[in-house]
Amino acid sequence: MNTGETMTASYEKVCAQLKDEPRTWLITGVAGFIGSNLLETLLGLNQKVIGLDSFATGHQYNLDEVRELVSADQWQRFSFIHGDICNEDDCKTAVEGVDYVLHQAALGSVPRSIKDPLASNRANVDGFLNMLVASKDAGVRSFTYAASSSTYGDQTDLPKVEDKIGRPLSPYAVTKYVNELYAEVFARSYGFKSIGLRYFNVFGPRQDPNGAYAAVIPKWIAAMVRDEDVHINGDGETSRDFCFVNNAVQANILAAVADDDDKNHIYNVACNDRTSLNQLFSMLMKGLGEEGVSYSRDPLYLDFREGDVRHSQASIDKISARLGYRCNYDIGKGISEALPWYIKNVNQLEAIEF
Ligand SMILES: NC(=O)c1ccc[n+]([C@@H]2O[C@H](COP(=O)([O-])OP(=O)(O)OC[C@H]3O[C@@H](n4cnc5c(N)ncnc54)[C@H](O)[C@@H]3O)[C@@H](O)[C@H]2O)c1
Repeated sequence: MNTGETMTASYEKVCAQLKDEPRTWLITGVAGFIGSNLLETLLGLNQKVIGLDSFATGHQYNLDEVRELVSADQWQRFSFIHGDICNEDDCKTAVEGVDYVLHQAALGSVPRSIKDPLASNRANVDGFLNMLVASKDAGVRSFTYAASSSTYGDQTDLPKVEDKIGRPLSPYAVTKYVNELYAEVFARSYGFKSIGLRYFNVFGPRQDPNGAYAAVIPKWIAAMVRDEDVHINGDGETSRDFCFVNNAVQANILAAVADDDDKNHIYNVACNDRTSLNQLFSMLMKGLGEEGVSYSRDPLYLDFREGDVRHSQASIDKISARLGYRCNYDIGKGISEALPWYIKNVNQLEAIEF
């Protein structure tokens, strides 16, 4: 376990060690938002990376962009499997010779799961179990997976601490909680210990702004760049602990190389901060203005959205103490990093409706 003092240093140290002694990683969901950011960082550290994706919600252009951002040598170290985690053979093929698994593939979005719970269950529960079994059987060094803050459900205490959860508020939340239950049972039944990272509203470059299930930050930035109306669900005082994607990448890398004692744990990944939707609207409008994109429309308020929790803020004490994690990018710094990417890309991204 790392002490708080050495946390950022510990991430730098881990990155330096990986560069000296490159490993083989599997990223499922590699063509998606978080997966492609993991890919960019790991290739930048000269790691060998296998990526699996079905393009259910991910895009080839995310992979193309990473290719442009890394060197030709680094790109050579990447191999892609166009496959489905619902297919056991694809999972078995993907884990061959892998040291560290970063399992990101899933169908995100609470509303999507309310509309089609069977599809969410197939990808997020059946697919998860396939990956867990394949990884255990292959004897990988570690298995880190994308859990979710939705698991806190109707638990209203703030900040949210890992061992105090409520009842799930959506099918999506059930699927992510089931992941945690399976992960724990695999430690008990087979001695296969994994790490679940409960992401809180991750945002950043390559998060899809299009489609019915787009997350709030990319959706609003895209609307502002296109000079369209921004819709706020509820009164705008709903709040979230928005987490820039580089923080999530850091958490994954630290989790992958964690000591055995720090495995078979769940960790919050966020900043222990809280921003209301009204504040977010102002921050994005101001940030875009500083980038030369002026937006002057008032937001349009709609009904509250089914399955949404009112407030969310994470305690990050556990991940800080055990894994040496730091929120290196607060929401302001994250938005500054993300905006230029959206301004450049919003009008080129192909609109995909699910
Ligand atoms: N973005 C967030 O704020 C957030 C918050 C909590 C949890 N998560 C979780 O993090 C993970 C990554 O999310 P994201 O925001 O990058 O979403 P994303 O939709 O951009 O990425 C998910 C990727 O998984 C792929 N995928 C989906 N089903 C698949 C299947 N059956 N087989 C193979 N690939 C499949 C998709 O094509 C996509 O590329 C997901 O597990 C999500 O539930 C994300």
